[in-house]
Amino acid sequence: MTTKTILRVNSIPEVALDFMNKTHFEEIGMVETLGETICEHQQNNNKIEQLTDALDHWLEHTRSHFSRENLLMMDIRFPMYSVHSAEHSSILKEMENMVNAWKNNHNIAAVYDYVFTSWPNWFSSHVNSMDMITAQFALMHGYDATSTPD
Ligand SMILES: [Fe+2]
Ligand SMILES: [Fe+2]
Repeated sequence: MTTKTILRVNSIPEVALDFMNKTHFEEIGMVETLGETICEHQQNNNKIEQLTDALDHWLEHTRSHFSRENLLMMDIRFPMYSVHSAEHSSILKEMENMVNAWKNNHNIAAVYDYVFTSWPNWFSSHVNSMDMITAQFALMHGYDATSTPD
């Protein structure tokens, strides 16, 4: 079975900090696997439980992803903290709504649209703007590229 590619790892630019790149690449891998499960579900109408678990796991990963970046921004006193963290809050709300809707109605078309179109567009533009600028700012202000906020 051929599955449409969601995002190519090399289409997302590397930012200046290792921990952010690691998280981004992990997330893309996770969403690729999720996309395969969605396509399998569309063919056989099964995999409901597997899909629900994968969505929950993705949400959890996204929460940690965003809270680590928020922590970094506080550590380095990033001047655009409120703009960047507001984007995190709004996408997280959107994802939670999508996952809750799936749990209530099992409407695969809505999940498909979100995973194959809305999220990749958002992710790509977010990494290219907010994450890129934040990581650059951190590096310029003495943050070690190999450390992780804790
Ligand atoms: Fe990020
Ligand atoms: Fe971010």
